[in-house]
Parts: sequence; C-alpha cells; structure tokens
Amino acid sequence: MGLHRAGFEVVGIDLHPQPHYPFEFIQADAFEVNLDDYAVIHASPPCQGETAYQRRPGHVAPVDTIGAIERIRDRLSVSGSPFIIENVPGARRALRNPILLCGSMFGLDVRRHRIFECRGFEIKQPKCQHDLQQGSFPQATNRKNRRKTVEVGVWRIPLEVQQKAMGIDWMALEELSQAIPPAYAEYIGRAAMKHVRLNGTSPWASSITPG
Ligand SMILES: C[S@@+](CC[C@H](N)C(=O)[O-])C[C@H]1O[C@@H](n2cnc3c(N)ncnc32)[C@H](O)[C@@H]1O
Repeated sequence: MGLHRAGFEVVGIDLHPQPHYPFEFIQADAFEVNLDDYAVIHASPPCQGETAYQRRPGHVAPVDTIGAIERIRDRLSVSGSPFIIENVPGARRALRNPILLCGSMFGLDVRRHRIFECRGFEIKQPKCQHDLQQGSFPQATNRKNRRKTVEVGVWRIPLEVQQKAMGIDWMALEELSQAIPPAYAEYIGRAAMKHVRLNGTSPWASSITPG
C-alpha cells in the first residue's frame, strides 16, 4: 500500500495465498519468479528467526532469517533494479547500511522498529519521536502500567485498535502481525520514485516476501 501511495503500480508475490491483498498478486516462490520487469523491488523475508519472540520456547517455528536475507540479496542484485530489504532490528548484522523506521516518525500509535537496506537510491534517516507517543493502551501481559503504543498481533487487544495504530484496515490479525505500517513503505517508495523518475524507468514495483 505504501508503494502504491508513492505512485507505483504494485504486484505482490508470496508462497501462500493472500486473500486480503489489495493489488495484483502472484502466488509463487520469489526465487523462481521472473523479476526482470520491475522498476523497484521490496522484499520482506520472514523475520521470526531474529525477533524477541524467538526467545519464548515454542512460540514460533525456527526460521533462518539471516540466510534468507543473504539469499534474496544475491537474487535481487542480479535483477539490476533498485531494491529494498526489510527486517527486524535483530537482523541488523545481515543488512547493509540500513535505516530504521518507527511509528513515531509518522504519527502512529505503534513503535514497531524495522530496518531497511535500500540499494540503488538515496534515502534519509529520520529521527524517532517517542515523546510524541502518549496514548493509553492495554499493558503487556507481564506489566502493570498501560502502554503508550499498541502491541500488534495479540488476541487480547481488539483488531480494530491494532489496525488503526498500523494504518491498515484490510488485514486479519495474523496478516497484521507480519506487516509493516504502509507509512514506512510510502516513505521509502517516495525516495525510490524520485530515483525512478530521474532515471526514466517505468513506475512498476514488486513487493515480494521471500524465505
Ligand atoms: C514478513 S512476511 C511479509 C508479509 C508482507 N510482505 C506484509 O508486509 O504484509 C514474510 C512472508 O514471506 C513469505 N515467503 C516465505 N518464503 C517465500 C518464498 N520463497 N517466496 C515467496 N514468499 C515467501 C511468507 O509466506 C510470508 O508471508
């Protein structure tokens, strides 16, 4: 959605069906599909191998996030298009010169720090504005005080509250827990679009989700 708002025509690719995906969608393996015809490619490899939640035994299936990032970088490097690889801060050692984006930079009620390697175009690092986040939302299960931001992907907070905090109203809870706020992709998409316009490539983007 963020890439669309930045002016791209978006095609999504995922191994699994995405019934709520709002744009053209191809169910395919990102390592087998043709990536030649896109001006910009955004990849969000599964991050479960590097999230804080991995430390809770049995919470998520083991995933080789670092290996997935390296494999998709190799794949995207041969595509020749500018590209973005997104992941959680825990995967910082695998990403090259990433910028960090936070909900506080976009007036959102989530913190949701995510890092982005941006290749082939210039991008600026904005500053976190955590002090501006002064909401009152249900506390974490092991805490007494209410939170200033919304926890995403949990059953005990109404889905609408989580959707509003992310700026997304078309996803179910499980999908939301895997997503980033569209404001993040829009910020990066605008910088990528500036590059595309200057360099005269057609404004197509692919949002792929490789493992
Ligand atoms: C972090 S989620 C990204 C979700 C989505 N991009 C979003 O922002 O809402 C990672 C996704 O990668 C998909 N995936 C894993 N391996 C893949 C592969 N080889 N090709 C395509 N998609 C893959 C998973 O099915 C999962 O939906």
